[in-house]
Amino acid sequence: MGETNNMGRLDGKVAIITGAASGMGVRHAEMYVEEGAKVVLADIAVEAGQKLADKLGANARFFKLNVASFEEWNEVVKFTEAEFGPIDILVNNAGIGIFKLMDDLTIEDYTKTMDVNTTSIFYSLKTVVPSMRKAGGGSIINISSVDGLRGAPTAMAYCSSKFAVNGITRCAAAELGADKIRVNTVHPGVIKTPMAEQGEIAEIIAALEAQIPLGRAGTTDEVSHLVVFLGSDESTFCTGSEFVIDGGMICDL
Ligand SMILES: NC(=O)c1ccc[n+]([C@@H]2O[C@H](COP(=O)([O-])OP(=O)(O)OC[C@H]3O[C@@H](n4cnc5c(N)ncnc54)[C@H](O)[C@@H]3O)[C@@H](O)[C@H]2O)c1
Repeated sequence: MGETNNMGRLDGKVAIITGAASGMGVRHAEMYVEEGAKVVLADIAVEAGQKLADKLGANARFFKLNVASFEEWNEVVKFTEAEFGPIDILVNNAGIGIFKLMDDLTIEDYTKTMDVNTTSIFYSLKTVVPSMRKAGGGSIINISSVDGLRGAPTAMAYCSSKFAVNGITRCAAAELGADKIRVNTVHPGVIKTPMAEQGEIAEIIAALEAQIPLGRAGTTDEVSHLVVFLGSDESTFCTGSEFVIDGGMICDL
């Protein structure tokens, strides 16, 4: 945790981070608090999310949010404004992946993936942007994937949902520039989250690492540094852009 008298890169900024109870979202939340932000960790996983918020201290809160519920987005915005004030940064990080060949992929699988990964972003814009206008501007960071830039077997629902995130991001950037609200996507490649370092997933990652020009998977810290940059005033001329962080995995596209 940074010293309170040191300048943080996100000092005084109010942020909502979705999917902050697990994986990369945990590190984004930790780094945001270390850099001086006040953060609402929003997730459906109550126990893990509350535990992390308690650990992060006075500048963190947990709120139970299902990102696929418009009503709950209204509630998390009210909660954040009441606790910390108008919202400066939104990190849309919550996401799911259902990986099946098309013949096995059900209508429910497809609809659920789109609801959680894509429609949620539309709900977040409808509810969070009015708060950012009150703050005088803001930064929205939508976590997509390399699978939002390429197709892959078994990834039809996931790729569809992540490609659509790029579209909604560019439209939002085009509409919201006048409000000084920036909107960008982040496209991680293979990232070693704590869960991915064990068992079968670790073996899959080891095989994938051989195909990555930098010869390894990324770390959550590397992605969090980019998410801090995009939330901070260091990135004030960046909007409507796709930030790929993949060790060169899709450099041949
Ligand atoms: N891990 C990778 O290698 C990788 C690569 C590219 C993109 N991504 C993307 O990065 C983001 C984070 O990935 P991760 O691997 O850290 O994920 P993870 O599975 O570790 O964590 C996702 C979090 O989202 C939460 N969540 C799921 N559904 C939700 C809902 N309806 N409402 C609110 N919260 C919900 C989960 O409870 C969990 O805490 C995702 O959007 C994912 O698609 C991950």
